[in-house]
Amino acid sequence: METLIDTNQDVIKDNLDYTLFSWSKQSGLNPISAERAEGVYVYDRDGNKIIDFSSQLMNVNIGHGHPKVRKAVIKQMDELSYVYPGMATKARGLLGKKLAEITPGNLQKTFFTLGGAEAIENAIKLARIYTGRHKIITQYRSYHGATYGAITAGGDPRKFPMDSQQLPNVVHVENPYAYRCPWGTSTAEECGKMCAENLERVIQYENPGSIAAILMEGESGSSGCIKYPKGYWKMVKEIADKYGILIICDEVMSGFGRTGKWFGIDHHEVEPDIMCMAKGLTSGYIPLGAMIVSDKIAEHFNEIPMPLGLTYSAHAVGCAAALAVIDIYEEENLLENAAKMGNYMEERVEEMKSQHPSIGDYRNTGLLGCIELVKNRETKEPMALWNAKPNEMEVMNKVAAKIRELGMFTFVRWNWIFTCPPLCINQNEMDEGLDIISKAISIADEYYIN
Ligand SMILES: Cc1ncc(COP(=O)(O)O)c(C=O)c1O
Repeated sequence: METLIDTNQDVIKDNLDYTLFSWSKQSGLNPISAERAEGVYVYDRDGNKIIDFSSQLMNVNIGHGHPKVRKAVIKQMDELSYVYPGMATKARGLLGKKLAEITPGNLQKTFFTLGGAEAIENAIKLARIYTGRHKIITQYRSYHGATYGAITAGGDPRKFPMDSQQLPNVVHVENPYAYRCPWGTSTAEECGKMCAENLERVIQYENPGSIAAILMEGESGSSGCIKYPKGYWKMVKEIADKYGILIICDEVMSGFGRTGKWFGIDHHEVEPDIMCMAKGLTSGYIPLGAMIVSDKIAEHFNEIPMPLGLTYSAHAVGCAAALAVIDIYEEENLLENAAKMGNYMEERVEEMKSQHPSIGDYRNTGLLGCIELVKNRETKEPMALWNAKPNEMEVMNKVAAKIRELGMFTFVRWNWIFTCPPLCINQNEMDEGLDIISKAISIADEYYIN
């Protein structure tokens, strides 16, 4: 069937009539009809310029439309598009070597996947096989992907519609959410300490000898950018070592410069045993994910088969795109820029706090940030609850509509507004974006209860 697509309305209609949109009620959708994108901007088919303040799904880290990636992909396709994962390719070998270089500690050998959730699935499998243990400990306020195992591992309420048949043997613990500390502590460090002590108690209740791994995001992302208090990751690692438990670090969102360093965990000086990556690995130009394992875990499979595999593992075009993207991070000093622009963003949001009483908290690392809106700063009553129902989203929907009306794309989730632009953003673009967010927050201020 051939369809002639003429107008913007035709494009949207075909999308809505013949494709399903993630996580949404399908009627009443009004997607942006994207035509092209460059740097921090996406252009729709009506000629509108939209500033991208979430790097799409926090993955287009290098910014949109970079010609170097396009060239690398075309070159790779001219040479070789696909061979099965049992063959060696130049791009695969070079990328594996580069990842061993930029990841922390003894992480050495990479297994490639197509995205983040697949990396998590394979990490869980490998941790179980390697340790001979079955339980995985994760955090409630986390997201690790939408496949069955990965969505069980997360605590995001998007799993509720299918949680009657979850992956067995996943145990959740509280996050060190200092702004709303589950133990009512008054400092972030204290909250981190209480959380770590609780983690150890849970490990003892669950039988330490049955626990294969602790799985945590390198730095928290879509669950509210809940910053790990100083020392928390180290305490988790010490507890894991004490009981022979592996650490799986999920850097799918916090990796590749997003936090101003290569990986979120680099802020905490902890070396994981397994690290999962995707998103910024190719900045979304081509789907690719990865799981890198320590030399010790890799050696385990020297004499016994490693029981993992995927048709598209180590796809040559994906690997070539990732190599080009990693070059761009280095050549364009994007990690440094993310750290610098992140500091600037924090200063600006700090100023915004005096104008906007509804800003309760702001958490940010590099360019992985989130503004939390409240109805009152003393009570911290959220502008919308975690997992708010559509009818509880009235105010935040108005905030989100304003953001869109003013020409910005970013995520507004419950009472959070995400501030995660591409790492190539400059100060003018940052000002443009924050001015839009400030105008939108003025709407929430009207609902502030003095
Ligand atoms: C921390 C984290 N892990 C895993 C995933 C899943 O990645 P994917 O959607 O590529 O499967 C995501 C996606 O948002 C994520 O944020």
